[in-house]
Amino acid sequence: MTNKQRVFSGIQPTGGLPHVGNYVGALNNWVEMQADYDTIYCVVDLHSMTIPYDPHELKQARIDTAKMLLAVGVDPDTSLLYYQADVLQHVELAWILSTITGLGQLERMTQFKEKSDRAGQNLGLLAYPVLMAADILIHKVHAVPVGDDQAQHLELARDLAMRFNARFGDEFPVPDRITPGVGARVMSLTDPTTKMSGSDPSVRSRILLNDPPDVIAKKVRSAVTDNGSEVVYDPDGKPGISNLLELFSFFGRRSIDSLADEYVDAGYGTFKAAVGEAIAAGLGPIRERYESFDDEEVSMIMRRGAEEARDRTEIEMKSVREKIGL
Ligand code: TYM
Repeated sequence: MTNKQRVFSGIQPTGGLPHVGNYVGALNNWVEMQADYDTIYCVVDLHSMTIPYDPHELKQARIDTAKMLLAVGVDPDTSLLYYQADVLQHVELAWILSTITGLGQLERMTQFKEKSDRAGQNLGLLAYPVLMAADILIHKVHAVPVGDDQAQHLELARDLAMRFNARFGDEFPVPDRITPGVGARVMSLTDPTTKMSGSDPSVRSRILLNDPPDVIAKKVRSAVTDNGSEVVYDPDGKPGISNLLELFSFFGRRSIDSLADEYVDAGYGTFKAAVGEAIAAGLGPIRERYESFDDEEVSMIMRRGAEEARDRTEIEMKSVREKIGL
């Protein structure tokens, strides 16, 4: 055992492979945090079942998502990596936490309102943030690297940790949210006023981590940009250009200011070509690594992770069960 601080995060296997929003907002931090923290990462397949889905697609999407996590640099010898559905202790804790969660708090969740408008309401969709809280708390983690869109869910996890501790005695640390300074909310390429999302029906709205350079160039070229012709960073007034500047800054490893200085009068066409090249250069090695894993190898890694995760979460659950009178 180490005495490093512990970190957990999860990603849904939904809507094809992870996109640059996932990467810039969260996965990049997952990888970096491996150096200093005890890191636990999970393909949260049970969360993907809360909107209508195809079982065959889910089966493949789990493997592809796990493979992409390995490709971006999650190291299964350093991090604990597994499929959520293989570790049912998550579900047990979710049930327990549901008994101390107010219905009103769940009904106010932005993602519940948005997704239930599109996909219809079901109990799983409403209870989703409780399962997410269980994912986090079951590992007694100190920090959770996520994008901005998960802030409300993480707040619930923090509330539930405090509520449980107050009611049953100290059990869970209250975890901090870790978000990047730039790129905590990457916007859609087709509508820069909404976030880039795997569930957007338009594939042109997002760049997948395994998109080849010509596809990336095309998607960036056709990205919706703003009136005028100057490249300036102004997220309210120029959300499209600002979004591209953030991506350029991340993948080009340069400050937004220096990029805006260089491209201010270059014209949108030249600017977009340079953005596309920077993203393609950044994703090239990831795409190559992704192709280098086969499904069987990934499944073995995930089985090994699940075994260890079951052992670790079972130890935590024994203490929880004791506290709640079971
Ligand atoms: P998910 O699968 O939608 O996204 C995975 C991670 O990517 C981040 N992200 C973004 N960041 C910046 N810009 C975007 N456009 C963007 N889109 C997605 C998300 O914030 C997330 O960090 N509920 C979670 C999955 C989950 C989880 C957990 C996360 C389940 N249990 C426990 C952390 C801890 C979700 O749907 O993420």
